[in-house]
Amino acid sequence: MFNQEYSMSRGKVIVTGGCGYIGSHTVVELIQNEFEVVVFDDLSNSKEFILDRIEEITSVKPLFEKVDLSNPIEADIVYKKHADAHSIINFAAFKAVGESVRKPILYYKNNLYTLINSIEAQKKYNIKNFIFSSSATVYGSPDILPITEKLQTKRAFSPYGNSKRIAEEILEDFAKAYSDFKTISLRYFNPIGAHESGLIGELPNGIPNNLLPYVTQCAAGVLKELQVFGDDYDTKDGTPIRDYIHVVDLAKAHVKAVERLVSGNMKDKYEVYNLGTGKGFTVLDIIKTFEKVTKRKINYKIAPRREGDVLALYASAEKAKNSLDWEAKLSLENMIETSWNWEKLYRGI
Ligand code: WQD
Repeated sequence: MFNQEYSMSRGKVIVTGGCGYIGSHTVVELIQNEFEVVVFDDLSNSKEFILDRIEEITSVKPLFEKVDLSNPIEADIVYKKHADAHSIINFAAFKAVGESVRKPILYYKNNLYTLINSIEAQKKYNIKNFIFSSSATVYGSPDILPITEKLQTKRAFSPYGNSKRIAEEILEDFAKAYSDFKTISLRYFNPIGAHESGLIGELPNGIPNNLLPYVTQCAAGVLKELQVFGDDYDTKDGTPIRDYIHVVDLAKAHVKAVERLVSGNMKDKYEVYNLGTGKGFTVLDIIKTFEKVTKRKINYKIAPRREGDVLALYASAEKAKNSLDWEAKLSLENMIETSWNWEKLYRGI
């Protein structure tokens, strides 16, 4: 019998960590591109109300399973239940760089057990496609800029970063061994920004580690002063350069990656892509642009360098443009404006 609801869907996608920052924006884009989404999340660093916000934006509430995927029994139950999915996007991971240095076992255990349990279930239940949320941190401190995917990966400074590199190697071996399955690793540069509705955004646990949430919390009066970690780097103003990318652009790249996996047009069973804008901005550029866009002053002082920080990281975005048909479109001003809008709405300012 003709089933209208089914015919309109482009099939089911499992999004692990779908209540988190990048995950929730990706769920929105997937729904708006007519995929059926099921979110697996243990809510350890995210909130369940995000699912209602996703519904407000898209008029569709994704299916939800509260599950700790680092536990193989729990993972097996939910993957078995949703074995009709064609793709898995794996965001579920701990991500605080400094904490990972202090608690390496926690990070390796959570991030790698979650990955291994997921690909084991993928194989068992024959879910063909896998997308992994990786990071530019796998390049370490690069000698050549912009960074292309051909650059040799290096041991990362932190267990967090190293868990991403090890995960990529596990996925490459998986792809080599099982020819029926296809995998894409997406290496994010520095995701910032929020959905234009202001309904979803980054929700850091405690004091933020990353620059933008720290800046917005300073502007909101939650934090007193921003420390700029070092002004003696060899850049135009002495502060490090990063490739900041809008989280909505990033989310759209995941839809393109699912489409590529489903299309059967992959050159290799395992592919990696940089997701960045290709442009670099310094820490002081970010502060100045924030002040210009929001008309708020940021109280900051120059502090010593932060351990593990590198001078400059920015992507060559060519491979994603050529093979994924994706490029970042949103400006730095838009990234900062939406981050601030989200912070204001969240705090009722
Ligand atoms: C950006 C710049 C700091 C905070 C990290 C991870 C990476 C990815 C994104 C996340 C740097 C400076 C920051 C502050 C500052 N993973 N800064 N004062 O270090 O490029 O990347 O986050 O899940 O894997 O390594 O991002 O936002 O921390 O820092 O001066 O209070 O801002 O020194 O130059 P980073 P960041």
